[in-house]
Amino acid sequence: MTEAMGIDVGGSGIKGAVVDTASGELLTERFRVATPSPSTPRAVAKAAARLVARAHWEGPLGCTVPSVVHRGVVHTAANIAPSWIGIDAAALLHQATGLPTVVVNDADAAGVAEMRAGAGRGRGGVVLLLTFGTGIGSALFVDGHLVPNTELGHLQMWGGSAEVKAAAQAKTRESLSWAKWARRVDKYLAYVERLFSPDLLIVGGGVSRDYHRWVPLLRSRAEIVPARFRNNAGIVGAALLAAGGDPAGPASGNGDQAAG
Ligand code: BGC
Repeated sequence: MTEAMGIDVGGSGIKGAVVDTASGELLTERFRVATPSPSTPRAVAKAAARLVARAHWEGPLGCTVPSVVHRGVVHTAANIAPSWIGIDAAALLHQATGLPTVVVNDADAAGVAEMRAGAGRGRGGVVLLLTFGTGIGSALFVDGHLVPNTELGHLQMWGGSAEVKAAAQAKTRESLSWAKWARRVDKYLAYVERLFSPDLLIVGGGVSRDYHRWVPLLRSRAEIVPARFRNNAGIVGAALLAAGGDPAGPASGNGDQAAG
């Protein structure tokens, strides 16, 4: 059995588990620590090292960040401390944990998990995974190949990034009903559909657990399904990418293996 550890750095929590990279199943409990505030590279790397120690893990490590990541280097920081910009996150996490580390955008990782072992398995055409959480993350696949770092949460709507009004956090912050929030998501999806005409939309993030409360209210033309791995998809995808191979075409284009 091939195993790797995946860690998902989110706006509120940093979660990790050891994953069976053939099935995508978690082999340990899901360890979690609160995201440090401020969520600086040093503080997050320390938290990640704590999760690795709790899992007693000594093998390949995959870690997500909510940022554009190119060859292990972070280029944006919408929902994480701005000091991440320009940081070689793969090298930093390698230093903090002593493990060979791959770093990838959180939504891209979730997409890889779903395409390889989840709701998008075997699906060709244009598949788009959208995660609704602190922000909106996106992973776009064309015939199974990832187009990395699409950042569709930052499409301009309502006078700013769409995620400000349509992420799950907006529902909580503004105490919106499912129906009211779904109307915003619907408008957002109409824009996304005009751009990409996806064949399949996979929705992830914490709210994918409550899928039945909002997805039936959407009028999207594309088929919409919840992420099989729900909110664990980032952990699973990070582990799959760390284990190497060719999970969904040249998916590791925006991740990188730290030297050493
Ligand atoms: C970030 C993305 C991330 C998404 C979900 C956005 O604010 O720009 O990189 O995938 O949030 O966490």
